[in-house]
Amino acid sequence: MSLGQYKVYVTRVIPQPGLDILNEHLKQVTVNTKDHILSREELLRNTKGVDGLLPLLTEKIDGELMDAAGEQLTIVANHAVGFDNIDVPAATERGIMVTNTPGVLTDATADFAWTLLFATARRVVESDKFMRALKYDGWGPMMFLGGDITGRTLGIVGAGRIGAAVAMKSRGFNMNVLYSDAFQNETLEKELGARKVEFEELLQESDFVSAHVPLLESTHHLFNDRAFRLMKKTAYFVNTSRGPVVDEAALVRALQSGEIAGAGLDVYENEPEIHPELIKLDNAVVTPHIASATIETRTKMATMAATNLIEGLKGNRPPNLLNPEVLDK
Ligand code: GLV
Repeated sequence: MSLGQYKVYVTRVIPQPGLDILNEHLKQVTVNTKDHILSREELLRNTKGVDGLLPLLTEKIDGELMDAAGEQLTIVANHAVGFDNIDVPAATERGIMVTNTPGVLTDATADFAWTLLFATARRVVESDKFMRALKYDGWGPMMFLGGDITGRTLGIVGAGRIGAAVAMKSRGFNMNVLYSDAFQNETLEKELGARKVEFEELLQESDFVSAHVPLLESTHHLFNDRAFRLMKKTAYFVNTSRGPVVDEAALVRALQSGEIAGAGLDVYENEPEIHPELIKLDNAVVTPHIASATIETRTKMATMAATNLIEGLKGNRPPNLLNPEVLDK
């Protein structure tokens, strides 16, 4: 079959350069132009008969969907680095390639972890609201006291690409860096004098705890009541990874009771829902999963996902293939 005959479905409008790559090679590219997350029924209906699928992290791509799409489905090119939305073993079983977008969003996401860290520790959102409510009647020595950042201890949970980038960016703030990970990160140790410690020790010693683990069975609710109890009462928690690594109800309790000082969150346990108590808390800064949302980064994610998809349909090995076993079959 020539490349032009393949059918491809894109589940939402992505930056144009990504769509341009698809349209340059293919004649049958369908894009969901409705600016909303597709319902399961819409997704099942719209992916029937496609050879290539370019979904977002908001779509659950499981065995049922792959079977409904049909045997011709060759590749699922996720527009995200995280791929917990895709059942990769189910894809492998069916000989379907799965790709993601690593690397291109590392800095944007790490920058945003810092954005949340600053916003939370220095109470930026709360004080902005205060100004807009015209409550400011003059400088006060006890007004909006937050926590110091320079010279404090930063704890990185998961020192992969993004976690390591967050750590490296601490250089300007002269921080003491701890990390917990299954693997040693020699660069962090050499460049920053970072110390690999057990998760519990990291929680106990850090002034800022930033989560950068993938969502796996082993990381589900990693941050639970016990974890928040182990943290300092003056410490801040930042999450730009995946919501379910946090027991959101436990986090709410920790924030309400002063078990920890604050939290900066970009991801939620049951997205797009957010715990109703969380939005009432002034010591939480909450953003709508936008850590990679810069024009440059989202454009790179779109072109990377599109390139992966085209390469897969061409019969080549896509640059970011997650299940190379399918090609060895
Ligand atoms: C965003 O959350 C991503 O995984 O790319």
